[in-house]
Amino acid sequence: MWQASPVGLYENQDPAQEDMNLRGRFTTDAEGRFHFRSVRPAGYPVPTDGPGGVLLRAQLRHPNRPAHLHFMVSKPGHKVLITQVFADDDENLESDPTFGVTRRLIGRFALAPDGETATLQYDFQLEPGEMKFPRPPIP
Ligand SMILES: [Fe+2]
Repeated sequence: MWQASPVGLYENQDPAQEDMNLRGRFTTDAEGRFHFRSVRPAGYPVPTDGPGGVLLRAQLRHPNRPAHLHFMVSKPGHKVLITQVFADDDENLESDPTFGVTRRLIGRFALAPDGETATLQYDFQLEPGEMKFPRPPIP
């Protein structure tokens, strides 16, 4: 998995973050479960200095992606799943400039009683098939 920081920057965009910060590789338990603790990601703007920016401006659309976490999930005998899980309370869910949000990809961030931490529970569904990994860079 990989995610942006609470200010909306990936580690490779932010000199203040260490290499591989907010990126992780996990192995599930026998039931297919895994968990990790992290900071909450923030949304970020897509680049607007190229053709994408021209297109967004022509459509009077903003460049701000909703907060999300990226996942690449694999299991032998299944197709590799590369997906994103979006924060359910982000104001840009309905207007993601990359059209990446679907209802199924919205995860519920349940606020804990302390009012500061949240839990995200999400079920990934893998499709039977060949486990074939993409070549980097992965968008
Ligand atoms: Fe992203």
